[in-house]
Amino acid sequence: MSGKSVGILGIGSYVPEKVITNAELEKMVDTSDAWIVERTGIKERHVAGDGEATSDLATKAAERALLDAGVKAEELDLIIVATVTPDMVFPSVACLVQDNLKACKAAAFDLTAVCSGFIYGLVVGSSFIKSGTYKKVLVIGAETLSKITDWTDRNTAILFGDGAGAVVLGETLPGHGILGVHLGSDGSGGDLLKVAAGGSRQPTSEKTIADRAHFIQMDGKEVFKFAVKVMGEAASKALEAANISPKEIACLVPHQANLRIIQSAAKRLGLPMDKVVVNVDKYGNTSAASIPIALDEGVKSGRIKNGDVVVIVGFGGGLTWGAGVIKWYKE
Ligand code: ACO
Repeated sequence: MSGKSVGILGIGSYVPEKVITNAELEKMVDTSDAWIVERTGIKERHVAGDGEATSDLATKAAERALLDAGVKAEELDLIIVATVTPDMVFPSVACLVQDNLKACKAAAFDLTAVCSGFIYGLVVGSSFIKSGTYKKVLVIGAETLSKITDWTDRNTAILFGDGAGAVVLGETLPGHGILGVHLGSDGSGGDLLKVAAGGSRQPTSEKTIADRAHFIQMDGKEVFKFAVKVMGEAASKALEAANISPKEIACLVPHQANLRIIQSAAKRLGLPMDKVVVNVDKYGNTSAASIPIALDEGVKSGRIKNGDVVVIVGFGGGLTWGAGVIKWYKE
């Protein structure tokens, strides 16, 4: 990427208080803690309460990111929320967050790329700054997947959780910030992972409700194969775009879907697991929120330091994928 250097000025995340452990899941579906840990690495997940919606989590993560950046809400030019679980069809979550923050001059919209959504948002947001259109952009990945999870389906109920992560983007030191990105899609694989009803193809009806068609449906095995292939490839393409060798990676922050997928991505990049941020055990798969939550933990725990080359990479429904190379710098 040429021109202005754009980076993350501040970062924050939030997960709801309520936790569902594997032991609790054993009482809901025919599964076991041992199976879930062995096949996915997940031990527990946080889920939103009855009255808690995606914009509530998004707002809390955003407030933390703004504080971390030392940026006031009134300074924001744009708010992008990556989500597949908006509070409602419209208004967008981004508009609800704009109002909650009183970000009086910000434009706002939602973006859908499922679990790759945060990386898509980062690319869109940083492009606005590079082009000179905007100076400060808030990018949030926020989900309440628990609300579209079929808690009677053991194939999916074990996997998902709720949460939000946010970053404030702005101009940074030359040679730092986002150095290279790669995004991709393959709509022919859309049926592998979907929520079929509630849109214009299958509007909500008594039949769609009886068919449980408003919940996530997934071909786990095929998604697994796709994920293992695309994670390494996407990261390599972003590294190429940044002109950085995999040897220079200080920290990999992958989408947290399944520990085995994460281990395979690390192996393909020749990285030992001690260079990889893993928190899927605590949160499960929080879709668009998973990368910014893991990045926040990496930074706040001191694992990611100024000057480190950090690679973020994710995949998701669509099918979509994305990766970014960031030279970390924060004042
Ligand atoms: N508990 C106990 N047994 C189970 C469970 C469960 N929760 N789920 C499946 N099984 C059984 C199956 O019935 C099967 O039994 P059988 O051999 O008698 O037929 C056996 O366990 C093995 O099942 P598989 O589906 O082969 O298990 P696999 O190792 O593939 O793991 C999993 C399944 C965890 C879903 C895996 O395929 C996976 O993680 N896929 C990727 C999913 C993913 O990442 N989705 C999110 C994408 S991101 C986004 O956009 C939201």
